[in-house]
Amino acid sequence: MSGQPPSKKQKVEQDAETFPGFATAVIHAGQEPEQWASKSVVPLISLSTTFKQDTPANPDPYEYTRGGNPSRTVLQTCLAASEGAEYAYVASSGLAATSLIIQTLKSGDHMVTMNDLYGGTNRYFRRVVSKFGITASFVDCTDLTNLKAAIQPNTKIVWIESPTNPTLRIVDIRGAAEIAHKHPGILLVVDNTFMSPYFQRPLELGADIVMHSITKYINGHSDVLMGVICTNNKEFGEQINFLQLAVGSVPSPFDCYLVNRGLKTLHLRMRQHEKNAMAVAKYLESSSCVKEVLYPGLPSHPQHEVAKKQCKGFSGMVSFRIKGDLQTSREFFKALKVFTLAESLGGYESLAELPAVMTHASVSEEERKALGITDTLIRLSVGLESIDDLINDLDQALQHACQQS
Ligand SMILES: Cc1ncc(COP(=O)(O)O)c(C=O)c1O
Repeated sequence: MSGQPPSKKQKVEQDAETFPGFATAVIHAGQEPEQWASKSVVPLISLSTTFKQDTPANPDPYEYTRGGNPSRTVLQTCLAASEGAEYAYVASSGLAATSLIIQTLKSGDHMVTMNDLYGGTNRYFRRVVSKFGITASFVDCTDLTNLKAAIQPNTKIVWIESPTNPTLRIVDIRGAAEIAHKHPGILLVVDNTFMSPYFQRPLELGADIVMHSITKYINGHSDVLMGVICTNNKEFGEQINFLQLAVGSVPSPFDCYLVNRGLKTLHLRMRQHEKNAMAVAKYLESSSCVKEVLYPGLPSHPQHEVAKKQCKGFSGMVSFRIKGDLQTSREFFKALKVFTLAESLGGYESLAELPAVMTHASVSEEERKALGITDTLIRLSVGLESIDDLINDLDQALQHACQQS
């Protein structure tokens, strides 16, 4: 950490970082060995649910793990640093994080959200939140005039995802923040799951709250379900901290340990995800079996310029439309050998899925049609395998599928 000033070569490498000091933050923030009696360099897993107090009602500082735990603090401090936030609070899944944010609202409040949301978030807003007197408008926020028009006097939250899942549309986050902040009391929430804090930092673009499904890129190893809420808003942070204790949807200390470990390589993984995804997207554009490729990193993407302005890279998610019908898609999945047919994303392994019948099956058929989530829209989470193997796998599966249709 100390010693000689960086050489010219080191300097160039440092300048290539998306956000200065990102790698140092995810490796060191919150990890100080001095916090443990043993001076352990790797943070300890504190499995205890309860903590000894010297006198009654005198926690020092921990009391009961639902309210706070050393392993959770280590992770939350590191996550906050990764998003450039003052505060971060973890929950037992991405949807649990979403529900904590919604529980800061009350009956009679309104939210503006998108017609193109992750299917589980859409289902939660439409089928659960609506039962508690909170109303929502689902609009196409890629056109900010729709967002502006949907704001009501009782709107408290604007909730966006960018890029969207699975069609990878981009919302202008700065523009959305400007519109939301014209109305005192409205908070802009950005689901940043697809980009990770390495490629996109919505708080720096004007958002008030960032949430992630940590389950995806941040953990990166497809072995933990977790969510996080990051903010610089002290009052909002205190409400979430209270809800962690009051509601109880907190992750286990062991899962906190695993995520803290995964976070150490986020910057390296994201760079390789992007490299591999760009190569896959270019290959797909050249394939005669493919009708359309949706990847914000391609100049052909309709919002490539907006993406370039607000993101420092393009992540590992690529969607495409295969020529043919549902049976062609099925044949494609059947032939894959390296990509695994499975839901989820952001792990080191490459996955492929059919959103219309998998991740977005809970979205109504009418909505899916309007959004272009058809039987031939295939979503790839491009992993970290050797790029030639990934492209060869897609190539043989596409050729097989095309020949069958
Ligand atoms: C963009 C996005 N947000 C939220 C979630 C929900 O996260 P979790 O599955 O961790 O509850 C997902 C899950 O796929 C997602 O893709």
